[in-house]
Amino acid sequence: MSIKSSVKEHFSPGQISEHFSHFFPHTRVLKATELVYRDEELDIMRFDLEDLDKCVELFRKVFRADPWYDDWISFDQARDYLSELIENPVFEGFVACEDSDIIAVCFGHKRSWWMGKEFFVDEFYVENERQGNGIGTKLLDYVAESLAGEVYTRLTLLTNKEIPAESFYLKNGFYNNPKRTVMVKELIIII
Ligand SMILES: CC(C)(COP(=O)(O)OP(=O)(O)OC[C@H]1O[C@@H](n2cnc3c(N)ncnc32)[C@H](O)[C@@H]1OP(=O)(O)O)[C@@H](O)C(=O)NCCC(=O)NCCS
Repeated sequence: MSIKSSVKEHFSPGQISEHFSHFFPHTRVLKATELVYRDEELDIMRFDLEDLDKCVELFRKVFRADPWYDDWISFDQARDYLSELIENPVFEGFVACEDSDIIAVCFGHKRSWWMGKEFFVDEFYVENERQGNGIGTKLLDYVAESLAGEVYTRLTLLTNKEIPAESFYLKNGFYNNPKRTVMVKELIIII
């Protein structure tokens, strides 16, 4: 096992960052935040590990609200979940900022599917008060355009039926795949 994988196996991204910055105070673990798009309203940057806590706060705030009402009981629980996405070696993430505030997030991962390379969107969200102002569309357009430039052939994701997010994706060129279903098997916890 390489040193990198061994470190990844034993520490969360936050801990890795803390350890590296302790021993290498002038070295960033991930590449510095990279501005990839700017207009009068917002900046879009590649996700940087330093943004994780802000993304977690926004994630909890957005998904606690209508129509999701997700009960992320603690900051750490939500942080663990997003950290697991980020630890995926094929993770790719973008944040949209207004001034220096993160107002929208796209986290996903790349997949080498038989039909061509595709990007699976794991989480996509816009700050509550700013929804409905074109920010999600702008972020999605950027992600789609940059991936198309890397020969990615499609975006895929899971969302709930008959909620505003479904209309948002339909308006942005997604379609429902009637051949697919989501299957879940509940497990009885054995202690
Ligand atoms: C879904 C979401 C990402 C869309 O981003 P957005 O910036 O609000 O959307 P845009 O302004 O670019 O596009 C507007 C369209 O999105 C849809 N929409 C989705 N949520 C909306 C909201 N809360 N307010 C207004 N429009 C919303 C509407 O169809 C709207 O079209 P319309 O103006 O013709 O009615 C964002 O509303 C959001 O974060 N919602 C909560 C979290 C969520 O559902 N994420 C997706 C999970 S898979």
